[in-house]
Amino acid sequence: MRSNKIIDRKINSLYVHIPFCEHICFYCDFVKVKKPQDPQVIEKYLDKIELELESYKNRLDDVQSIYIGGGTPSCLNEEQTTRMCTILSKYTNKENFEYSIELNPESVTIEKLNIYKKFNINRISMGIQTFDNELLKKIGRIHDNSLAIKAYKLIKKAGFKNVSIDLMYNLYDQTKKNIATDLEYLKDLKPDHISWYSLIMKEKSVWGRKNMKVPENDELFDELVNQGLKDLGYIRYEISNYALGKDNKSLHNISYWNNSTFAGVGIGATGFEQIEGKYYLTKNEGNILNYKKEFELLSQEDYFFQIIMMGLRMVEGIDISLEKNKDIIDFYQEKIQEKIKQNLLEIVNNNLRCTERGFNILNEILIDFL
Ligand SMILES: C[S@@+](CC[C@H](N)C(=O)[O-])C[C@H]1O[C@@H](n2cnc3c(N)ncnc32)[C@H](O)[C@@H]1O
Ligand code: SF4
Repeated sequence: MRSNKIIDRKINSLYVHIPFCEHICFYCDFVKVKKPQDPQVIEKYLDKIELELESYKNRLDDVQSIYIGGGTPSCLNEEQTTRMCTILSKYTNKENFEYSIELNPESVTIEKLNIYKKFNINRISMGIQTFDNELLKKIGRIHDNSLAIKAYKLIKKAGFKNVSIDLMYNLYDQTKKNIATDLEYLKDLKPDHISWYSLIMKEKSVWGRKNMKVPENDELFDELVNQGLKDLGYIRYEISNYALGKDNKSLHNISYWNNSTFAGVGIGATGFEQIEGKYYLTKNEGNILNYKKEFELLSQEDYFFQIIMMGLRMVEGIDISLEKNKDIIDFYQEKIQEKIKQNLLEIVNNNLRCTERGFNILNEILIDFL
């Protein structure tokens, strides 16, 4: 007799959120708190993460990447770092595993880098934001460019081969000259990967609460950043992500865009999971020691839109030969054909992707898919 039991997709990647920061930057509305004086709060938080991971039972057996993000994961002390890595070590012993952690320049130490190495962390992402010291102060960062460069060199010296840098543009009174200077520093450092985000003014950030607005230079800066990085030899593979070589693309980031399932653990973390055949967006809501996973059921249309919206952010687009994407492509067949006629989408090597013109107006294209 045939069984009707639904077999859900196993979870492909895992995000772990560490919400503590030494200092709160003015533009940021990510879930974070000032690092508590009492170390027990962090220890209890790590206990809670351990329990949350256990609640997934064997559903995390197949994860191919882990990303420890924040907040500021590097602000944990050595003992807490070791505890965090020990909790996660259950999920990491696989071939071709990508294991990333986010660091801030001011809390990078050789001792902590050695702990990350010992636990097989193989990718570092460090938030620098800009190399302009005046601008760094204005946006509320507590590092300067010399500390950032020192931390970067220490990371490389410790033997990390895959190092990414986060930068932002369209910041405050940033000028074309600031961008050119940032590109000069990148030319020297040549990180393996760069995420360069345009500032999004978030209501709940320090700036958002003061009702500050984003400067109106967006398009100009987009062009400077894209052309500047291209000239340095970077491959743009997503709206804000650039890799030095094709092996430096972030597998974990790609899992958010290519219809993979992912779990988010820790306060504020989000996930995308299939449970009994249905798709859910998850979010951990509450406060640091008392949060709960909320599940938002996606209708079939919401699920299809989610995949189109995320997939078209990638330069390569959506692999339409994959079984998991076939029903989505069928559902949008008419709209896709219309956009191909308008030279906004194209199909190349079995991938549905934006044309160069389409990529610049992705939000407008997506409205028509709603
Ligand atoms: C939330 S932070 C966490 C990592 C680390 N604490 C740091 O400060 O780099 C991750 C990255 O998000 C980006 N980011 C944060 N707030 C942003 C905003 N309002 N608009 C655009 N990018 C932002 C920054 O580039 C930052 O490096
Ligand atoms: S940008 Fe990073 S360091 Fe600054 S407040 Fe946000 S999470 Fe913390």
